[in-house]
Amino acid sequence: MCGIIGYVGKRDGLSILLKGLERLEYRGYDSSGIAILQNKTIKYVKKAGKVEELKSSLKQSPLMGKVGIAHTRWATHGEPNDINSHPHLDITGKIALVHNGIIENYQDLKKILYEENINCVSDTDSEVLVQLISLIYNKSNKLSFQDSVRAALKEVVGAYGIVVICSDFPEMVISARMGSPLVLGLGDDEYFIASDASPIIEHTRDVIYLDDGEMAVVNDNKYYISNINSKKIISKVVDSIDLSIQEIEKGEFSHFMLKEIFDQKHSITDTMRGRLNFKDGTTFLGGIIDQIESIKSASRIYITACGTSWHAGLIGKHLIEYYARIPVHVEYASEFRYRNAIIDNDTVLLAISQSGETADTLAAIKKGKNKGALVLGICNVVGSSISRVTDAGIYTHAGPEIGVASTKAFTAQVTVLIMLALKLGRKMGIAKTKGKKIIQSLNKISKDVAYILNSYEDIKKVAEKTSKAENFLYLGRGINFPVALEGALKLKEISYIHAEGYPAAEMKHGPIALIDEKMPVVILAPHDNTFLKILSNIQEVKSRKGIIITITDRPNSELTNLSDYVLIVPKTHQHVFPITSSIILQILAFELALLKGCNVDKPRNLAKSVTVE
Ligand code: AGP
Ligand code: GLU
Repeated sequence: MCGIIGYVGKRDGLSILLKGLERLEYRGYDSSGIAILQNKTIKYVKKAGKVEELKSSLKQSPLMGKVGIAHTRWATHGEPNDINSHPHLDITGKIALVHNGIIENYQDLKKILYEENINCVSDTDSEVLVQLISLIYNKSNKLSFQDSVRAALKEVVGAYGIVVICSDFPEMVISARMGSPLVLGLGDDEYFIASDASPIIEHTRDVIYLDDGEMAVVNDNKYYISNINSKKIISKVVDSIDLSIQEIEKGEFSHFMLKEIFDQKHSITDTMRGRLNFKDGTTFLGGIIDQIESIKSASRIYITACGTSWHAGLIGKHLIEYYARIPVHVEYASEFRYRNAIIDNDTVLLAISQSGETADTLAAIKKGKNKGALVLGICNVVGSSISRVTDAGIYTHAGPEIGVASTKAFTAQVTVLIMLALKLGRKMGIAKTKGKKIIQSLNKISKDVAYILNSYEDIKKVAEKTSKAENFLYLGRGINFPVALEGALKLKEISYIHAEGYPAAEMKHGPIALIDEKMPVVILAPHDNTFLKILSNIQEVKSRKGIIITITDRPNSELTNLSDYVLIVPKTHQHVFPITSSIILQILAFELALLKGCNVDKPRNLAKSVTVE
């Protein structure tokens, strides 16, 4: 987690770094800081709280210079106060470092420093690294500054993306990556290094993605990339980023989350563009075209992911097993990476991630690769780590998602999983007519989303009526159970209201004890083969006086009589209902969070990309 940015060029570094921090703030917002080389000395300001706090401090004491580094933190080691904020300086005050990741052996390294009479001033793991670089650099006459950084990094166990400056080299910025993302931006006589491309795109479109084990050194208006350990120069491809500034700004919306909910009018269609084959009732997925035969003959598929992406994975299991009859297991990446799962050459590992940077998902991928599985990805961020380490994959094309609560990325992931399941299913022999049916529903989804967005006020009213509740229950059956889980996660993370998702029939094995007249119960009730069963579950809630909020796909008098509130999505294919119904749940969570006065885009304790374990 956390966002880092470095700049070296001819322009005012402060404004570039500050703007960059604002763009990166969604990655972490516990504290932030900036260090700039000013007349060959390092000056810095760091502050607990949001970037806004840092900006106010800088108004009183601005920094001037053309080389600098900055950080917005999601604390792992040490509470979010001023001292623990990055950048961290060495004891001589000549070296400054920003770090994303965790130095796992920081206690051992601290002991080495202590024996050399170097005491860290912060509680962070990160400071240890800058002190170690300094120790090596100052003790050894033979090592250059770059090589001192290399030597220190060789001692590190853990994950890092770092950017370092040293006042002895006022034109130099060094960055290195092992596990945490870094992108180098190449401008006109200027360079940027950042956790992702969002702070770079307004300056240049030309970027180089660093891979694990690589170091980028920018000095005297030149750059080179080398292997951290062997020093071997690596020639890298310069990518061009296809991202507009409008896509990463809120525009007319009050919140990124709201903008991204509304983006679904087009983002789901963007995900399907050029991929639907109406005539043959199938789909075209260019990214995995060469892997289809291997997937078809796989003995099992593991889907691995975290959070919302894991929920999409659960929906994927239903779809792939339904259409393609291949056994699918859905695993939390954080568990899968340490579990002795059965993985062999006949295994397909499908990783799902919006950011493409989630540390646990990356580790699960590594495990799958080492054991011989075919590793595929479903990813939103083009050029992200997951998109580069997987054997092949499918981009979701939902556009940048900045709000911490995932919305449009989820509906795009489910869309891709439908297309994948259908592709495999058609290859395995399901009827063309079956394929055509779901494609017809997908084809009208923009209209369905517009209908739901037009009913925004109705959903808001439900939020207003239930905003005093301290707990919510979400229920769904079959493919809609993961939708219930996702609805509950959305509510928890942005409104801090306790919520749980359950398979509707499982409720009577425990959670039903929670239901009383104060408990809103959100029930997903499409008219599919589970409808009559769900009606019975609603009766069970009604008998215990729960407040019933039903989401269904057409008016039904029985539902209306039983429910306190009924919210309708347009009639659609049973496998498309999870997409449309989840948009209602997103709006409900958003409005409840607003009513509770929560910071929807930056919920407490969270960050967008979880790049640490
Ligand atoms: C979703 O609302 C969450 N903030 C979170 O669960 C997220 O889905 C998870 O961290 C996985 O992220 P990824 O898709 O970028 O890998
Ligand atoms: N582990 C470091 C810290 O707690 C870096 C965290 C981050 O990636 O923001 O300060």
